[in-house]
Amino acid sequence: MHQTVESLSTWLHRIERWTVLTGAGVSANSGIPTYRDRTGRWLRVDPIQHKEFVESEAKRKRYWARSMVGWVGVDQARPNSVHYALAALERAAKVDLLITQNVDRLHQKAGSQGVVDLHGRLDQVICLECDELESRQSFQTRLLQSNPFVPDYQHIARPDGDADVPDNYVERIIIPQCRHCSGVVMPDVVFFGGTVPRLRVDACVESLSSAGGLLVVGSSLQVYSGFRFCRLAEKLRIPIIIVNEGETRADGMATLKIEQSAMNRLVAAIDQIIPSQESKSA
Ligand code: APR
Ligand code: ZN
Repeated sequence: MHQTVESLSTWLHRIERWTVLTGAGVSANSGIPTYRDRTGRWLRVDPIQHKEFVESEAKRKRYWARSMVGWVGVDQARPNSVHYALAALERAAKVDLLITQNVDRLHQKAGSQGVVDLHGRLDQVICLECDELESRQSFQTRLLQSNPFVPDYQHIARPDGDADVPDNYVERIIIPQCRHCSGVVMPDVVFFGGTVPRLRVDACVESLSSAGGLLVVGSSLQVYSGFRFCRLAEKLRIPIIIVNEGETRADGMATLKIEQSAMNRLVAAIDQIIPSQESKSA
């Protein structure tokens, strides 16, 4: 289905306030690879499960050995034109809430204010015992101090800050403990098999219940956690606009689907409806 930028800008203009749902496709042009390809095929090694992380020190060692290297790529990532365009759309009072499945904080770096990090945020860690929070940068410093043998070498950052490192580093990894209670520390993200905190989901449902439409950007919607909002929008009988360079699980529910050069066409459509000096100011 070939859709023009005009029909996208017409929809963006027509609906007063959108609930926006973004996924890894928004950050692809910031150098953070997606989880799945355009057909929805999984591109990664098997991701760590919540239960594995909590129960197995060996799995935690593997996670931190890889994250120690992968984090650098995510931390250095910068927002791209899509992040800035969505922040401009919010400044034009067209966005009720931006729900992101990404853990890279690029929407906030681009200036978006009303953001829910549905799957958490990679820039901080949390203690499983006492909920103490620590910045990921501070934890990275402690990781490097405890493991000087792990060299800083080229790596491909993954969406959740993973990277490929040799197994012989893993056994030797020393994992710093919580500074407050010496408990086990975890990245403040929702792993596979973990649950999104109820309050977070409620905020998203509340926004969607009062928004005029759901705008999905850069997500395959393969996981229920994001897809559930398409189901709710369908129940609420509000428009679902999907802008994604690939198939999604909700294509059959879409009022409009933009696929070809989706990201560029979204930026162009937002530029069309917002006074150019506004969206360029970012
Ligand atoms: N530019 C734009 N879009 C792209 C690009 C690109 N260069 N490359 C791929 N895409 C599209 C893919 O076609 C895919 O449909 O971006 C979409 C990203 O989908 P996913 O990788 O599945 O990411 P997402 O939908 O955010 O995944 C949701 O699943 O793995 C879990 O918790 C993880 O938050 C994640 C959730
Ligand atoms: Zn603690």
